[in-house]
Amino acid sequence: MAKSIGILTGGGDCPGLNAVIRAVARRSIDRGYNVVGVREGWRGLVEPLLVPLGPREISGILPRGGTILGTTRTNPYRLDGGVERVLENFKANLDALVAIGGEDTLGVAARLHAEHDLAVVGVPKTIDNDLSATDYTFGFDTAVWICTEAIDRLHTTAESHNRVMVVEVMGRHTGWIAVMSGIAGGADVILIPEQPMTVESACEELRRRHARGKSFSIVVVSEGYELTYASGESRLVGEDARATDQFGHVTLGGVGEILGREIEQRTGFETRVTVLGHVQRGGSPTPRDRVLATRFGLKAAELAQTGQFGQMAALRGDDVVAVSLAEATAELKTVTDEWYAVAKAFFG
Ligand code: F6P
Repeated sequence: MAKSIGILTGGGDCPGLNAVIRAVARRSIDRGYNVVGVREGWRGLVEPLLVPLGPREISGILPRGGTILGTTRTNPYRLDGGVERVLENFKANLDALVAIGGEDTLGVAARLHAEHDLAVVGVPKTIDNDLSATDYTFGFDTAVWICTEAIDRLHTTAESHNRVMVVEVMGRHTGWIAVMSGIAGGADVILIPEQPMTVESACEELRRRHARGKSFSIVVVSEGYELTYASGESRLVGEDARATDQFGHVTLGGVGEILGREIEQRTGFETRVTVLGHVQRGGSPTPRDRVLATRFGLKAAELAQTGQFGQMAALRGDDVVAVSLAEATAELKTVTDEWYAVAKAFFG
């Protein structure tokens, strides 16, 4: 009987997930495997929610955003008997699993492999680009492209009205999206979680810019930037700092609005705020993300078919290589001082 390879997508969706699903399935079907879609992340193995993935199901999905398998932030380790059910359902239906996800989904995969020898391989996805062990995750390029486009559009309206435009972007506790789109869009100040620039110094940069004749400015702020003041006070802004998901994450968002008010009050420059939100995660992937996702998918299929479990496809330079899931999920990849220095060269 043909061996079965399951595919699941977990965590926040991002453009390129379908391209990975297509690549894993195509390569596996071509090599005589049976391919099974696990719906809604780890929840699909707890329940189970399994669907066949044949040539018809994967046809035409390459350019589509989101994930045809659905996704959740279910953590089997937080459910009573969750891990046991995952193991039972895996054993009854699959020989190998390709888990496509970020630090949370892959963290579960790493643990299940380490503790129960689960036959799982990983593919790194996230618009946040915060996974160590890979130079880039797919989804990130699309998010940066969307933010850059928005910054370009905000430039023209900012200039027409002599305004400061604050743009709040995603990225959770890392500032990769803010830094890259800020550099690409020519932002005048970029505030990120890794660099505790104070609100006072941000305002000073804007005053400096306006003093040299510019009448408008663009400020990019990452949702995870802690509002920091010269007094030493700092705070993270979220919907409800006490409410967390099954992986212990708070829902971030809202820092842009507060920052915008502060800037207007402190500098007197008229300020408007744009929160890009989930627009950054929707829609069709860029060509770069489609290509990266496709290469990751082929690598993951190869790892699963050759029994190299506990490994993850990763990009190193221009090569797609295998790294251990444990290494990949050990720590967050944060924005380096070198990258922030590139952005800072254009502040003020
Ligand atoms: O991790 C991806 C991400 O888009 C983060 O940038 C953001 O903080 C979070 O997910 C939003 O999650 P949700 O889709 O649950 O609102």
